[in-house]
Amino acid sequence: MESQTAPGLHVAIIMDGNGRWANQRGLPRLAGHRVGVEAVRHTVEAAPGLGIKVLTLYAFSADNWRRPPREVSALMRLLGHYLTQETDRCIATGVQLEAIGRRDRLPASVVRMIEDAERHTIGGGKLRLRLAIDYSARHAIVEAASRAQGQGAEAWSKLLGPDVDLLIRTSGEQRLSDFLLWESAYAEIVFTSRMWPEFSARDLADAVAEFHRRDRRFGAIAGSNSRRTA
Ligand code: IPE
Ligand code: IPE
Ligand code: MG
Repeated sequence: MESQTAPGLHVAIIMDGNGRWANQRGLPRLAGHRVGVEAVRHTVEAAPGLGIKVLTLYAFSADNWRRPPREVSALMRLLGHYLTQETDRCIATGVQLEAIGRRDRLPASVVRMIEDAERHTIGGGKLRLRLAIDYSARHAIVEAASRAQGQGAEAWSKLLGPDVDLLIRTSGEQRLSDFLLWESAYAEIVFTSRMWPEFSARDLADAVAEFHRRDRRFGAIAGSNSRRTA
């Protein structure tokens, strides 16, 4: 069995439930998104200590453009704040920040903040933090297909990203909502009823502990725990 602190885990999180968390408290949905940013901070801080090397957070899906314009612009503003405020902390704590997803539909100011954050945090070796913004796995796969013609699965993984070890979705929903469909081929999935604004370092540790209790077989025989890819 792998040790609890085995390095190199790729954990991906569908951060869901901000709106419902706020509604349950008679607050506007935006209040849920704001507190959700705090949960992101706790999660990023706790990740390296749990053996997580890559953390991919679903922040805004390609389908989230379908929300009311006021909510969309509030989310874009929050993303911008997060990127500018967290860059220094990321540099100090060895976090390399990058965004995945489309950039051609984002406000120019957000693109600029993404590029600045990426440039300034390059080389951070503690944790690779990937924020999925205007992200659609289907779109990413179609893009990769046009660039990887005739090449093998390894080239696809390079174009798309590392395999996911553990996929967490909060808020009780049990679906993938177009997130990392290729990369999650053998991901262990943990669904928790916790709403994202209340997600804590403890919840992350519990999910990682649950991951380590699972027997990953990758199509082989029980107990072999043989990794398919590096
Ligand atoms: C997740 O919370 C954040 C984003 C999708 C941006 P939601 O906003 O989806 O919250 P619910 O699902 O409506 O509660
Ligand atoms: C998925 O959550 C996207 C993010 C968490 C950013 P949604 O709340 O948008 O997904 P659905 O609509 O419930 O599937
Ligand atoms: Mg939702």
